[in-house]
Amino acid sequence: MSNQTPTIIVTGGAGYIGSHTIIELLQQTDYIIVSIDNFSNSNADTFDRIESITGKRVKNLNVDICNLEALELAFGTIKNPIGIIHFAAFKAVGDSVNMPLTYYHNNLESLINLLKISEKLQIKNFIFSSSCSVYGNVDKLPVTEDTPFSKAESPYAHTKQIGEDILINYVKSNPAFKAVLLRYFNPVGAHNSGLNGELSKDKPNNLVPFITQSAVGILPPLTVFGDDYDTRDGSCIRDYIHVSDIADAHVKAMNYVINDNQKTNTSIFNLGTGNGVTVFEAIQSFEKVSEQKLNYKVGERRAGDVIKIYANNNLAKQELGWDPKNGLDEMMLSAWKWQLNLGKQK
Ligand code: NAD
Ligand code: WQD
Repeated sequence: MSNQTPTIIVTGGAGYIGSHTIIELLQQTDYIIVSIDNFSNSNADTFDRIESITGKRVKNLNVDICNLEALELAFGTIKNPIGIIHFAAFKAVGDSVNMPLTYYHNNLESLINLLKISEKLQIKNFIFSSSCSVYGNVDKLPVTEDTPFSKAESPYAHTKQIGEDILINYVKSNPAFKAVLLRYFNPVGAHNSGLNGELSKDKPNNLVPFITQSAVGILPPLTVFGDDYDTRDGSCIRDYIHVSDIADAHVKAMNYVINDNQKTNTSIFNLGTGNGVTVFEAIQSFEKVSEQKLNYKVGERRAGDVIKIYANNNLAKQELGWDPKNGLDEMMLSAWKWQLNLGKQK
């Protein structure tokens, strides 16, 4: 073992969840952190924001992870790499329906390339960003990690189902390799300082960025997609989870594999709070913390929407010692602070 401080590689480190995870890694550990991101859905300013919060500058290697040759050269510059947290992927569900090949290529080729390099360089610890979308429509709630997958509702969700299978099969072939698959429910909010948050290049379709951007007038009033579902107030139910709690789970997952605490070489954990929240409850929370009324209307149901989904998160709590700290109001307040910080800039 080298005496050099170990390095953790974060792919997609300039993106929404990757940047919050880098902040937690820098604040909670002594690892050297290197990001690999080609800015396809982000930009280099993220690293200024990370520095303003942590006081530390993180190096980013601007490489397309689908380009194996370039990726090998980039890894050649990294000293003592011991773990990879793989966020880099395309994530817009609607785009994946219109551009399935782009999604299959980017999300799967990147994973395969990273595994090839891990094998070559003997990097044994790997954390993968999966999604509750792997479950599709479920019959029984809350969702446990054993809930069987239904048919994927989109090519995006299918890339996550296939990505999980690739990892599971790879681990079987290489018992020295340890993987944690984290299935995020609905990550929302921003760093509680309001200094870092989501800044995708594409127009937001997700509820929370739509709320905050419509509140500052960049987007038209929100449409609630249906109020006639069989739920307590007629709107759909989701498990919203603060992005910094998601980030914290990655630090714990990385320590878990590095310290050999796994029962088997592949572990799978749901990351949600376990609470189902309706669209109207999310709006009420936003109105409370922002001290203003939100202009919205009720519209048609959105095609393909799951009515109700939330997590059983017991396994992540037991095995990782993870406990999400932030409630819905903290999620909304931090998202709002971030939006006010951005102003009318999208
Ligand atoms: P994001 O788009 O903000 O971040 C992804 C980053 O990866 C971007 O900075 C992008 O530039 C980079 N990237 C993409 N393809 C690349 C490539 N080929 N080479 C190099 N860099 C590349 O997305 P996010 O919300 O931070 O999501 C991170 C991960 O979590 C993704 O795998 C996503 O599918 C998964 N996930 C996200 C959510 C969510 O709601 N945000 C929910 C479940 C799972
Ligand atoms: C949340 C709720 C909408 C916008 C998506 C992906 C999923 C995962 C998480 C990556 C729903 C309602 C929304 C609006 C509304 N991502 N809504 N008006 O659909 O749960 O999941 O993000 O892995 O794969 O599909 O999130 O934020 O789009 O919607 O009423 O303008 O808000 O109907 O009930 P969703 P969302």
